[in-house]
Amino acid sequence: MSLLSIKNLEVHFSTPDGTVTAVNKLNFSLEAGQTLGIVGESGSGKSQTAFALMGLLAKNGKVSGEATFDGKSIVGLSEKELNRIRSEKIAMIFQDPMTSLNPYMRVGEQLMEVLMLHKGMTKADAFEESVRMLDAVKMPEARKRMKMFPHEFSGGMRQRVMIAMALLCRPQLLIADEPTTALDVTVQAQIMTLLSELQRDFNTAIIMITHDLGVVAGICDKVLVMYAGRTMEYGSARDIFYRPSHPYTQGLLSAIPRLDSDDMAALPTIPGNPPNLLKLPQGCPFQDRCQHVSDICRYSEPELITTSDQRQRACHWLAEEQA
Ligand SMILES: Nc1ncnc2c1ncn2[C@@H]1O[C@H](COP(=O)(O)OP(=O)(O)O)[C@@H](O)[C@H]1O
Ligand SMILES: [Mg+2]
Repeated sequence: MSLLSIKNLEVHFSTPDGTVTAVNKLNFSLEAGQTLGIVGESGSGKSQTAFALMGLLAKNGKVSGEATFDGKSIVGLSEKELNRIRSEKIAMIFQDPMTSLNPYMRVGEQLMEVLMLHKGMTKADAFEESVRMLDAVKMPEARKRMKMFPHEFSGGMRQRVMIAMALLCRPQLLIADEPTTALDVTVQAQIMTLLSELQRDFNTAIIMITHDLGVVAGICDKVLVMYAGRTMEYGSARDIFYRPSHPYTQGLLSAIPRLDSDDMAALPTIPGNPPNLLKLPQGCPFQDRCQHVSDICRYSEPELITTSDQRQRACHWLAEEQA
């Protein structure tokens, strides 16, 4: 049985202009200790997918479908049950660590509070465990830094504090929503390496959310490519990176900067912008930006087909040949 299994997950927002379907019929699963990358441009529904699982949707949002975590349904739980799962079994880290850190409290106190509250530790034990966790995220001089306030840390070090905080209760699942987007490229790489080391040490499953396929290369077991709230393509990381079959995935891949090329200006990007979810065209949501668009894409939305190699794909292009 998978650690997390999602069936037909949908998120709808009611707005004055109509209903927005931010997440549309998602299906995926994640095994204990494995990593799933959720990738797509801004606005594709990645964060709302995570928020739906964590019970953190905005007031005008509504989730439907099934999500089973560790054998239990986590859709529609009470606030109390959700709080327990959120603090002890599923942890989340965000792009901006300050969304989770209290700027007025010493970092050490914030870490210790989690352990005293959720693990019933004494102050002394919580202190030692917090230092251990800061060591685990490779924070230099961890003991000394316990007394510091969040603003005294660099962006990369704050993100390490966040990761330490998220892992304190040894969650089975860590959801990381663009955790390195605000950091420079070198620090990004260090944080990604750290996350995969911690995953190995703690056997934590990770959902890594990013708009940059390059960031998740090498750390994911599976990749879900999202666009306009939908799955465009889903499969093993190896398939997605080496045999991408959706024009959107191919576009994202060709936009990854290569370290051996100094000609950044020549990077191809996907022309155009993601569609307004309130004014989706008939047919495929990607049609206006697709190199391989044909007549059928203009009137019929491609179905999500699961192929024999456990890959999911929603595209008319080459559908005949692949069938
Ligand atoms: N509170 C809200 N009310 C209405 N629409 C929303 C709300 N929150 C998010 N959305 C819609 O959901 C879409 C997907 O958002 P999100 O999941 O945050 O995208 P991303 O892939 O960048 O994380 C947004 O483009 C927006 O149209
Ligand atoms: Mg987001």
